Amino acid sequence: MRATSKPIERNISVQHECTAHATGSGENEMATRTTMRVGILTGGGDCPGLNAVIRAVAKPAMNEHNARIIGIEDGFEGLVEGRMRELTNRDVSGILNLGGTILGTSNKGDPWHYPTEKVDGSIEIVDTSHRVLRNYRRWGLDVLIAIGGDGTMNICHQCGQLGMNIVGVPKTIDNDLMSTDLTFGHDTAVHIATEAIDRLHTTASSHHRVMVIEVMGRYAGWIALSAGLAGGADIILIPEIPFRWDSIFRKVRERSFQGKRFSIVCVGEGAQCPDVGEIVKSYDVKRTDAKQLGGVGEFVARRITEDADLETRVTVLGHLQRGGSPTAFDRILATRLGAKAIELAAQGQFGAMAALKANDIVSVPIEEAISQLKLVPPDHQIVRAARAVGTSFGDE
Ligand code: F6P
Repeated sequence: MRATSKPIERNISVQHECTAHATGSGENEMATRTTMRVGILTGGGDCPGLNAVIRAVAKPAMNEHNARIIGIEDGFEGLVEGRMRELTNRDVSGILNLGGTILGTSNKGDPWHYPTEKVDGSIEIVDTSHRVLRNYRRWGLDVLIAIGGDGTMNICHQCGQLGMNIVGVPKTIDNDLMSTDLTFGHDTAVHIATEAIDRLHTTASSHHRVMVIEVMGRYAGWIALSAGLAGGADIILIPEIPFRWDSIFRKVRERSFQGKRFSIVCVGEGAQCPDVGEIVKSYDVKRTDAKQLGGVGEFVARRITEDADLETRVTVLGHLQRGGSPTAFDRILATRLGAKAIELAAQGQFGAMAALKANDIVSVPIEEAISQLKLVPPDHQIVRAARAVGTSFGDE
């Protein structure tokens, strides 16, 4: 593993003159210290398992590495604005099964694309990276552990280039981050979506309807694919496999003729509709990626009602997929990743991200993880297994 900056020894004796200290009592207070100071933040959309990572970083940091943990509020927003506080053992106790993040998060905190309100009330996007570096130094941080998805890892990479010591932990329900077999949060989202499909099955069959369920995932179809397979959806539509309307209509009609008077269509929010492409709900310039996807479920349902003449209903699962307790699998993965992250920090392996590979927790360069999005290969084994049991992807 490539170390991009000077390593920190365990129980190091780094002498820092920091101008603000952990109790936040003032920027002018000078403190000379000998313990490692670890900043931690959660960036981007929340997901189940974030608190499990925070706990898995903080407990060994405090108990084994004699480190102090500085919790940064609301992702990189808190680092730009200098909003942080020292975490205690009590803060990180009892949070393993807690959804959300005790630190808060934001997907509008990219320091290089920072929304700032002007005097006339309009929003200007400015580069605030100098403030991030200043606050990192002011708070005497030796390393920053950032838990996030591809957006957060991109920011981490740029922070590394500014000279900050960074360790990443991969998070996202979308599972679209390269260099890790899985991100924590994904399993919980799939579990929730699967349960929703199970529930839709009983009402669909009672009313002889086509039920369309729209799930999240952004430009990747991992949630739709896995939940669709686990829930026994008849049609799965994902961004990576272009679909045709006639193929969908044929499938739902065929089922009707066979006496199966209902169908379940599981559609990923980024699915590309013929001639139209992805359906965008709104744009928010405060985000690095301004696009907010949403609405494809409604679009697909309308076409099935009009062209296949079948009664249709739509469910948009939305943020239910991100809320609540993590599954046991996500708690374990999050804990393993968090424990690895603090180990990397203590060893001075910066510019690295903890990752799951072949059931082992390893370290990979952040640069590699952000090289591209991890999309579903159209011939992925899960796709082939779904086709084998008769699921349509609207392309045949
Ligand atoms: O990246 C996670 C995710 O939930 C995506 O699946 C979804 O497109 C997006 O975030 C929604 O973002 P927001 O919570 O800002 O609406």
